[in-house]
Amino acid sequence: MTVHFIGAGPGAPDLLTLRARDLIAACPVCLYAGSLVPEAILAHCPPGAAQVNTASMSLDEIMERISAAHAAGQDVARLHSGDLSVWSAMGEQMRRLRDLGIPVSVTPGVPSFAAAAAALGAELTLPGLAQSVVLTRTPGRASSMPEGETLANFAATGATLAIHLSMQNLARVVADLTPAYGPGCPVAVVYRASWPDQQIIRGALSDIADRVGEGISRTALILVGPALAGEGFDESCLYAADYDRRYRPQTADSPWASWSHGDD
Ligand SMILES: C[S@@+](CC[C@H](N)C(=O)[O-])C[C@H]1O[C@@H](n2cnc3c(N)ncnc32)[C@H](O)[C@@H]1O
Repeated sequence: MTVHFIGAGPGAPDLLTLRARDLIAACPVCLYAGSLVPEAILAHCPPGAAQVNTASMSLDEIMERISAAHAAGQDVARLHSGDLSVWSAMGEQMRRLRDLGIPVSVTPGVPSFAAAAAALGAELTLPGLAQSVVLTRTPGRASSMPEGETLANFAATGATLAIHLSMQNLARVVADLTPAYGPGCPVAVVYRASWPDQQIIRGALSDIADRVGEGISRTALILVGPALAGEGFDESCLYAADYDRRYRPQTADSPWASWSHGDD
């Protein structure tokens, strides 16, 4: 018996990996985080599978349900939205399962920041503008932030910020980022990326709060940084005609000219 942690993707049912689909189809028990995992994904469960929405359950209750499946020798599909590597609560569940001696596997999913970037048609790392993406959040009712992980500190790097779980703190996000990025810095708020009711609101730090208004309070990402402008960046060397590289040596003297593809 194994608990399969599965990233269920950002919302669109067809943004599920094939491995995730097949694992869900093979498990007689499915525990899913109902607030963000779309019902359509549950259609992959086998007939008669137990489908348990964990949105209102405590960690103890979740472990009891998994332990019951373990006792019955039933594999469990444990679905969380997006990818499991960020804000999935997988860590605390895994720690308990390790203590109980219950085996686990992990299947990645499409993270919401990637779905939001796709909705915007944006590359978040543009040469000369930003070469890093920071996945972060602001403090919430149930979660404080480690001391050094402030928006001001991240902003000082000039990276593209993908700010999760923070729509309630939009005014504070703007206040913390404006000194480093300036009021004209582009911002995009993407609500429910890849869902049928997806919304995109673009603006600058100076006006994004007014543009968003009261309309969006959750399930949205705030993307901020110069790269969001999508202009004023350099072309990468990768495709430059005169760039000497492994797959396109420019001269007979190139270190790549005698390189064999066999070892790559
Ligand atoms: C508990 S976290 C889950 C993150 C998830 N594990 C991931 O990989 O994106 C929930 C937050 O992720 C963001 N989020 C999740 N799904 C989203 C979507 N479809 N569109 C925009 N933001 C989303 C929002 O900031 C939301 O408050």
